[in-house]
Amino acid sequence: MARRTTLTQYLIEQQRQHDNIPGDLRLLIEVVARACKAIAHHVSKGALGDVLGVAGSENVQGEVQKKLDILSNEILLEANEWGGNLAAMASEELEKIHPIPNRYPKGEYLLLFDPLDGSSNIDVNVSIGTIFSVLRCPDNIESPSEQSFLQEGSRQVAAGYAVYGPQTVLVLTTGNGVQSFTLDRELGSWVLTTRDMKIPEDTHEYSINASNARHWYPPVTRYIDELEAGKDGPRGEDFNMRWIASMVADVNRILTRGGIFMYPADKRDPSRPGKLRLMYEANPMAFLVEQAGGAATNGTSRILDLKPQHLHERVAVFLGSKNEVERVTQYHAEGGH
Ligand code: AHG
Ligand code: MN
Ligand code: MN
Repeated sequence: MARRTTLTQYLIEQQRQHDNIPGDLRLLIEVVARACKAIAHHVSKGALGDVLGVAGSENVQGEVQKKLDILSNEILLEANEWGGNLAAMASEELEKIHPIPNRYPKGEYLLLFDPLDGSSNIDVNVSIGTIFSVLRCPDNIESPSEQSFLQEGSRQVAAGYAVYGPQTVLVLTTGNGVQSFTLDRELGSWVLTTRDMKIPEDTHEYSINASNARHWYPPVTRYIDELEAGKDGPRGEDFNMRWIASMVADVNRILTRGGIFMYPADKRDPSRPGKLRLMYEANPMAFLVEQAGGAATNGTSRILDLKPQHLHERVAVFLGSKNEVERVTQYHAEGGH
C-alpha cells in the first residue's frame, strides 16, 4: 500500500522544505484539527446524542443559537486554551474576544472561528462545518485586545475549514497552496487526500440565495439575469445553480470543481453589507480560494485587503472561479450600486 501522509507529516515536511510552519503554529493547527474531530463525532451522533435543536439563546448578532453552535464553540475554546500557542481567540458565537486565562502560558497567535457553519442544516442532516483563521498577535501577547484582531485578511498565517458531510474533510492553507485531508475514523487521523487544490478559472456553476433577488442591487441582478438566460442570453451558454446554505459545503464544491459563490449586500439594510462575517467566514475562505488560484471580492475590493472595523463586521462576498468573480466585480465598477 502506498504510504499515506497524515496532517502531522504534511506540516513537518512543509516546515523542512519551506520553513514556513514554525513548531508552535503546527501544534496550533493540530489542536484545531483535533477539535474538529471531536465536533465531527458529536455531529454524527445526531438524534442519538443531545445535539439537535435550539439552545434557547441568541448570539451577539441576534441569531438563534443551536445546541451544536454552542457545543462546537466550547470544544474549540477548551481545546485551544491551554496549549501555550495563543494570546486570544475570537468566535462568531462570542460577543467579546476570549483572552487566554492567566493560568496558562501565552503564545504569539490569535485564533478566530465560526464554530459551526450552516446552522440551518444541522437538524436536516445536510453538510455543515467549522471555519478558522490564524493571525499573529501584533501587540503584547499578555494583553491582547479586539484591536489586535482587526488586521487585513492578507495577514492570515493559516486558514481552513472542516466539512462534516458524507466524508469529514479538513481543508487547509498556510500560504503555500491548499490541501485537503480526509478523516480516517478507524485510525483517528487526517490523511492527505488532495494536494494543491486548484479552482478552474472558468465555470458553468453559480451559487446564490435567489430568494433575495428582489432586494439585490443592479450589478448583481444584471449578472444573474445573464446566467439564467443561458444559451439564449448574452453569455451564449447554460449555467447550473447550486445553493447548499452552508458556506463550507458550497466553498468545498468550488475548490473541488470550480464555481462562483455569492452573498451580496442588498437594499434591505444599508448598514449591513451582506450576511457573512468578514473575520470568521469571508477572510479565511478568501485566503483559501486565492491560494487555489481563484478570486474573492466584496464587489469592489479584494476581500483580503479590507481593513476590519470591528470583530463581527459583515461583508458582501463574491468568490471562486477567477473569470466569473472578475466579471461580476466589473459589473459593480460599471455602476448601479
Ligand atoms: P452560520 O450558520 O455560521 O450562521 O452561517 C450561515 C451562512 C453560510 O454558511 C451560508 O452560506 C448562509 O449563511 C446561508 O444563508 P441563507 O440562510 O440566506 O441561505
Ligand atoms: Mn457561518
Ligand atoms: Mn456559525
